[in-house]
Amino acid sequence: MKPLNPKEIVAELDKYIIGQDMAKKAVAIALRNRWRRQQVPEELRDEIAPKNIIMIGPTGVGKTEIARRLAKLAQSPFLKIEASKFTEVGYVGRDVESMVRDLTELAVKQVKDEETENVQAKSYEIAEEKILDLLLPPPPRRASATPMPGVQEVETTAKPLSAAPEQSASVSTREKLRTMLKGGKLDDREVELEITQQNMPVVEIFSAAGLEEMDINLKDMFGSMLPKKTKKRKVKIPEALEIVAKEEAQKLIDMDKVMKMAIQRVEQSGIIFLDEIDKIASRDYGQGPDVSREGVQRDLLPIVEGSTVTTKYGMVKTDHILFIASGAFYVSKPADLIPELQGRFPIRVELNSLSKEDFVRILTEPQNALIKQYIELMKTEGVALIFKEDAIEKIAEIATSVNERTENIGARRLHTIMEKQFEEISFNAPEMKGQEVIVDASYVSGRLDDLIKDEDLSRYIL
Ligand SMILES: Nc1ncnc2c1ncn2[C@@H]1O[C@H](COP(=O)(O)OP(=O)(O)OP(=O)(O)O)[C@@H](O)[C@H]1O
Ligand SMILES: [Mg+2]
Repeated sequence: MKPLNPKEIVAELDKYIIGQDMAKKAVAIALRNRWRRQQVPEELRDEIAPKNIIMIGPTGVGKTEIARRLAKLAQSPFLKIEASKFTEVGYVGRDVESMVRDLTELAVKQVKDEETENVQAKSYEIAEEKILDLLLPPPPRRASATPMPGVQEVETTAKPLSAAPEQSASVSTREKLRTMLKGGKLDDREVELEITQQNMPVVEIFSAAGLEEMDINLKDMFGSMLPKKTKKRKVKIPEALEIVAKEEAQKLIDMDKVMKMAIQRVEQSGIIFLDEIDKIASRDYGQGPDVSREGVQRDLLPIVEGSTVTTKYGMVKTDHILFIASGAFYVSKPADLIPELQGRFPIRVELNSLSKEDFVRILTEPQNALIKQYIELMKTEGVALIFKEDAIEKIAEIATSVNERTENIGARRLHTIMEKQFEEISFNAPEMKGQEVIVDASYVSGRLDDLIKDEDLSRYIL
């Protein structure tokens, strides 16, 4: 895949997120810079530190949405995680280093998938041979061999006519079978496979206790110690091919190489998106339970600035991992983060609160727009929802006014309003098969006006 340039990245994000141009631009540049750095001569490459970003904006305006869509576009290992998940080292919970471990885990999987893809043709070839072996066991020394159980249906036409044609007859049967296999003619036939399973009940207990480091080692230890259980299972041939090919691919892949490549990728182009960073900022430092939040911030410093984290695949240096943080900063302010951490996020972008015009667009434009979702949902019941323009205006207007009068929860308000408005239809749809429902401004007013007039009601229901 060709790396996307900043304009293409913004265009992709535009498909799902309305407005917030500054934020889109900033993340697009950051993403592109990952690629640019790779192209720079090696001596200089190490000197180019990533410019970490912090996105600030009220709730429900698209911060997490940007991260989610970005994850799909980034061709580098990308981890999105909530900062509120972490606790200070020494407390029960996840320590911040675990995000680097998670990212590495992701990269290993990514590289492994690619390598599997690379050996796919070969692994399928081997699998095919193995299945053929099952269908038509290699001829034993004596001609009077009984065919393998479960595959009696195979015609054993290999009756020796003259001296030693046994071999060649079975070869030609094998070729016939191969053609049938390739042509999908044997898809309904079953073969018996031995399937390896591995279960490690022990490890669960430890990970629940939050001893992550230990957890890793235990998994490695017990993984090879616990007996591998094998189970015989009858499966249809296409599935058998999949299973055997997968097993063969595992054998063909050089795991050492995969690990090396994965770590390289994490170190050189990894991205960590730290969502809800405001939840670890606290206004009054050093009081009560908040010490541990500040502790999380302090634990974050070395990781953001560059340190080495031990993972089960090896040591990972975090110097060049890009961090994008985001938070609503509703109660706390960015200035409430400890200064050292603020300094490590040099780029600040603000996301705007959404206007009525934005809501109109959010309702209709994105590929996953709410209006489209409801139309499709009702279609499954045979009910056609027909939206008129004035209805959309009206919904946007209501969302804006409820946001103004009660809490501003951004675009999430649209979800609550839409759900309330279609409550009745959602409930009755199965009995309305074949009907058409025209949704216009008066339809919307009819369902929602009473609620909106009553401030208390709208506070609780919308
Ligand atoms: N600008 C936007 N364009 C399209 N959809 C949006 C936009 N902003 C928010 N949404 C929709 O609103 C919902 C909430 O958005 P999102 O999760 O990004 O909020 P957030 O900014 O992360 O808020 P919080 O600070 O509460 O986490 C999502 O379903 C998202 O699709
Ligand atoms: Mg969010």
